[in-house]
Amino acid sequence: MGQGLILVHSKYGAAQKYAGWLKEKTGFPVLEAKQAGREQLAQPDTIILMGGVYASGIGGMGVLRKHWELLDGKKLAVFAVGASPYEEGNLTLLKQRNLRPPMEQVPCFYGRGIWDLQVMSLVDRTMCKLLQKSVAKKPEGECQSWELALRQAGENRADWTHPDYLQPVLEWLEKN
Ligand SMILES: Cc1cc2nc3c(=O)[nH]c(=O)nc-3n(C[C@H](O)[C@H](O)[C@H](O)COP(=O)(O)O)c2cc1C
Repeated sequence: MGQGLILVHSKYGAAQKYAGWLKEKTGFPVLEAKQAGREQLAQPDTIILMGGVYASGIGGMGVLRKHWELLDGKKLAVFAVGASPYEEGNLTLLKQRNLRPPMEQVPCFYGRGIWDLQVMSLVDRTMCKLLQKSVAKKPEGECQSWELALRQAGENRADWTHPDYLQPVLEWLEKN
């Protein structure tokens, strides 16, 4: 597999968990995305950014944008971790929002994360509760799958992480 690096941006632990599982499978070291500078990014030929999704933005993308001239030509992928269930349509939107040119060719994978209002920062909790309130007003039949998931989670902690979500990443690593 060559020399690789896993970058992680995780506020509430789910992307960190996936990074740990991927490390176990590949032996690649894990580095906080915000600690990654030119020195750390120049060497590896494979880099996977694993970042939580917050208000449709994938955490850690700034590092890829900032150092794009170093990364262009490397084997690079993004693994987004969100509360929404996996859906092609959601993933396409996520890609459009986060992988703008010149990054549009970077493969983007997805794994479900953790939803826990109790551990969120005040700002995040307030934002997420507002979102849940607006979703609760919608008739159930009109809700999309991510809206249903938020309704069902309510005040409870939900951990949807599963190592199976890494399978497409492992296949991509072997193929390329
Ligand atoms: C402020 C905030 C906004 C969020 N927005 C989204 C979102 O747009 N789409 C989504 O699928 N999940 C969203 N989530 C859920 C997170 O993606 C989920 O908690 C994930 O586990 C975050 O990764 P982390 O645990 O590594 O921090 C949001 C969570 C927070 C706290």
